[in-house]
Amino acid sequence: MAGPATKSRGAKPIYVLNGPNLNLLGEREPEVYGRTTLAQIAEQVTQRAATRALHIEFRQTNSEAELIGWLQEARRKASGVILNAAGLSHTSVALLDAARALGRPLIEVHLSNPYAREEYRRHSFVSEAATGIICGLGADGYLYAVDALAHVLKEQAG
Ligand code: DQA
Repeated sequence: MAGPATKSRGAKPIYVLNGPNLNLLGEREPEVYGRTTLAQIAEQVTQRAATRALHIEFRQTNSEAELIGWLQEARRKASGVILNAAGLSHTSVALLDAARALGRPLIEVHLSNPYAREEYRRHSFVSEAATGIICGLGADGYLYAVDALAHVLKEQAG
């Protein structure tokens, strides 16, 4: 009998990683972040990916260390990453270093448009390692990120 089929890069899941306080979506500043909960976003993203035969690994953490650990894990286990690092986007060089080491396409997502908000949100360390950035489009931004990543992965596959 033939051995296990070699997994193509495309067979690996897309990691959708969410940073601090995003577990409070729906309750936290709904006028800024909307009323859609993270669980609802996870469901919508999973459905959108399924229409493209892609699999999603959806996670949230309030811990910078855990988020960095997941990015390191994604180097081996993911085909690409969609990352909303939330407040850590604006503060964490360590997260940028992990994103730089990823070696996979990374789409940065923000529900709000940080460039139209406070000055301290107008710089994102993550952006320096991002393939592309989607912001200001609310929860739908995650779906556009799936579409964008699907496109990038297809281009990569040739
Ligand atoms: C956010 C924007 C960040 O500035 C903020 O700290 C968040 C959420 C967004 O999705 O709009 O927590 O990443």
